Amino acid sequence: MLIPVPGLLDADGVAAVRSLIDRAPWIDGNTTSGYQSALAKNNLQLPEEAPEAQQAGHMILAALGASPLFIAAALPLKIFPPLFNSYAGGQAFGTHVDNAVRIQKETNFRVRSDLSMTVFLEAPEDYDGGELTVETPFGVQQVKLPAGHAVLYPSSSLHRVEPVTRGRRVASFFWIQSMIRDDAARASLFDLDQAIQTLGATVGQSDPSIIRLTGVYHNLLRRWADA
Ligand code: NI
Repeated sequence: MLIPVPGLLDADGVAAVRSLIDRAPWIDGNTTSGYQSALAKNNLQLPEEAPEAQQAGHMILAALGASPLFIAAALPLKIFPPLFNSYAGGQAFGTHVDNAVRIQKETNFRVRSDLSMTVFLEAPEDYDGGELTVETPFGVQQVKLPAGHAVLYPSSSLHRVEPVTRGRRVASFFWIQSMIRDDAARASLFDLDQAIQTLGATVGQSDPSIIRLTGVYHNLLRRWADA
């Protein structure tokens, strides 16, 4: 399931992130690839250890922590520090699957990639191509969102970034280890959560059935979650 997270960063947030990363030293993107992805990947990336990348990454992590939609959809346990990439002049990332476990450079911080996230940092009208194309059980879906919007998708899915034929596509990308490892279980919890929110807005949060459904949600989470 692809889950858009609109407005993760507002215009000021996008501008702040861009002003940091635009003056940082970009390098060949293959420094973070596994063997198979390296064959498919042609882009630029900020080094993980670049202070600009780390500072911009903290801004994105803060936005994620303040997004009820992200938290409900991802049920995050650990988030890999956000990375940044850029595609221009025909650059692309061919079809691949993300590595199952990501280890942060020079630390013991490990994240099992249950979910991948892309945060778009360039206005879509300013570049051609660059769609994130994800093969889902319901067919191929293409995503190209306004700057500041993000999308979550299963790290297990085959996906690619289409060639950028005009302008420059700038984005942040990273992986999330969810408290709920199983995609279907996580999707059901998200569905239940969203239904409770919608129903609660109509009948009131103190309606006895809303209280019971909220209990069911938390009791399922308690049964299934790694925390
Ligand atoms: Ni990928």
